[in-house]
Amino acid sequence: MAPSLLAVDFAVSAVRDVADVADWLHVDIMDGRFVPNRTIGLDHFAALRAATTIPLDTHLMITDPDVWAVRYAEAGSTYVTFHAEACPDPAALAKDIRAAGARAGLAIDRDTPVEPYLELLPHIDMLLIMTIKAGAGGQAFLPHLLDKVRTARAHRDADDLQVRIEVDGGIAEDTIGQAVAAGADTFVAGTAVFHASDPATAVRRLRELAVATRARARAADAADADAADAVPPGGEGER
Ligand code: DX5
Ligand code: ZN
Repeated sequence: MAPSLLAVDFAVSAVRDVADVADWLHVDIMDGRFVPNRTIGLDHFAALRAATTIPLDTHLMITDPDVWAVRYAEAGSTYVTFHAEACPDPAALAKDIRAAGARAGLAIDRDTPVEPYLELLPHIDMLLIMTIKAGAGGQAFLPHLLDKVRTARAHRDADDLQVRIEVDGGIAEDTIGQAVAAGADTFVAGTAVFHASDPATAVRRLRELAVATRARARAADAADADAADAVPPGGEGER
């Protein structure tokens, strides 16, 4: 669970509300060019970094990640995620981010297919599948984008890769289960956390829902496997 500070205008004070319960904080960097909105720069980012020890999950919605990604790594991001649409050589940039001491994420926006990027999964630490059009919080979740999560998850499992699959956009109590079922393992939520009356409780609740959905999926898989064992190929259930 990575609450997104975009929903609270990157207030350092908001960090305290979730620092004890969230796994990471999600920091959306927008440049007014890659997306129409503009958010914070490195100075404010450094202030956030200094205010907390929680891992920072930096999401660069900027046109020139080749220039900035390493700086956000050096400034103390745990993950630096840049957009595929803005980067000519994602494998090279991921290598630079890792060399600067952070983990590297690749983000896929609403209108970008995931297939061309599957071959990059061994070179990155996280694939961020947008579940909205990148650029603003508070938008409605787009369930058809979970097809990309399913595709990426199948590829990851088939090749036994370590890459995380993160979803960002419209994640809330009524949508997180679908994202888990599709195969996501890392969840950004802005509005659903910081516009709740108690952000810490909202984080806990979202995590509980994710864990419960995953447990149900695993139980269903195990039941399917048992059923397959009980019916030998060509048999009718008798051994
Ligand atoms: C939007 C950002 C998101 C945003 C999500 O482009 O990448 O991280 O904060 O906000 P909600 O959870 O409100 O959709
Ligand atoms: Zn984001």
